[in-house]
Amino acid sequence: MARTTSCSTEHAAELNPLCREDAFSRVDDSNDNAFYETDRFVNHLDSVALSTVEHIISSLITEKNPVILDLMAGWDSHIPDDLAASEIVGLGLNENELKQNKQLNRHVIHDLNQDPRLPFPDAGFDAVVNTASVDYMTRPVTVFEEVGRILKPGGLFLVIFSNRMFPQKAVKVWQDSDENERVILVNDFFELSGAFEDTIRFASKGKPRPKDDKYAAQTPVSDPVYAVYAEKKGGTSKGKRPAIRNDYGETMAKELLKKKEAAVKRTLRCPHCDEKLKKWEVPDNPFCQTWDNDFMYICFNDACSYFVRGWDRMYREINQGMSYRLMYNPEKDRCMPIPVPTHLALKDGIIED
Ligand SMILES: C[S@@+](CC[C@H](N)C(=O)[O-])C[C@H]1O[C@@H](n2cnc3c(N)ncnc32)[C@H](O)[C@@H]1O
Repeated sequence: MARTTSCSTEHAAELNPLCREDAFSRVDDSNDNAFYETDRFVNHLDSVALSTVEHIISSLITEKNPVILDLMAGWDSHIPDDLAASEIVGLGLNENELKQNKQLNRHVIHDLNQDPRLPFPDAGFDAVVNTASVDYMTRPVTVFEEVGRILKPGGLFLVIFSNRMFPQKAVKVWQDSDENERVILVNDFFELSGAFEDTIRFASKGKPRPKDDKYAAQTPVSDPVYAVYAEKKGGTSKGKRPAIRNDYGETMAKELLKKKEAAVKRTLRCPHCDEKLKKWEVPDNPFCQTWDNDFMYICFNDACSYFVRGWDRMYREINQGMSYRLMYNPEKDRCMPIPVPTHLALKDGIIED
């Protein structure tokens, strides 16, 4: 995941977007206080994505009665009550939003782009959480260094983001990057700060968007949620933090799955979600040349757990930005995955019978 980060070498600006002179410029470079003076009591993500954010936070903060900083906080810190935090502090720019945030014990108004030094003593926090806001930092590496200073050794810095933003306030390098490159950017901030152990990354993509969401007509998938996190160096319980479990759908017992796969020839239903498989014409392209069938059967249910969980599985193990659907080969009587880059991919090959 690491890449060349030295900006002193020849062609550095071409190889590393962080080295470009205007990397941290913004369309609206005016004082942030003016922009955030307006109250925004809105959800910055859809409800499915927000519950994923809570799931990530509750999975990773394992300290007993932790002291937590919500860095760049608004009216909701997404910190589940069952963490039983002894103190939650919010740092942000909008006084009204911070006052209405019921999870905070206290808050501080502080502009990180004016002064990236954090107004807190050394080693006072067990965890620092930054949600949907890293894209607005104009001096992220200094802020990450500061987070390292105020965390206890082994403390957690958890950066969570999606693909939504105030475009006039997000820095150029963020806007110029695709979603996978943004994960690399945040990883770079951690590495360049020198304060943290190796990062761990998590992505939740492709979950169905709630039907009553205001953007449901535009996109059937929920906002993606990415997390990049690391512990401050010097901790004693290195690597003991649990991994984030994929919280979508039930995992089926192997025996039951085998039974359902064996029945597909007769039922033509997906063994994972029971939806009817769709007949799909095998395209005439180099990737399919070795398949001697004219058609296959594919599960095109966008809410199928096999497909939805596939985004995370591919992200961690094989190919970021891809998932796979369940495909049944009628000649060989076999179920197999077929990779897809979007929920729309392959749908134009459906044969309506
Ligand atoms: C998209 S909102 C996210 C709020 C909250 N973290 C959440 O998840 O709902 C961006 C937040 O970043 C904060 N923010 C933006 N620029 C900032 C700056 N220069 N210094 C401190 N906070 C800032 C704003 O106050 C705002 O609450």
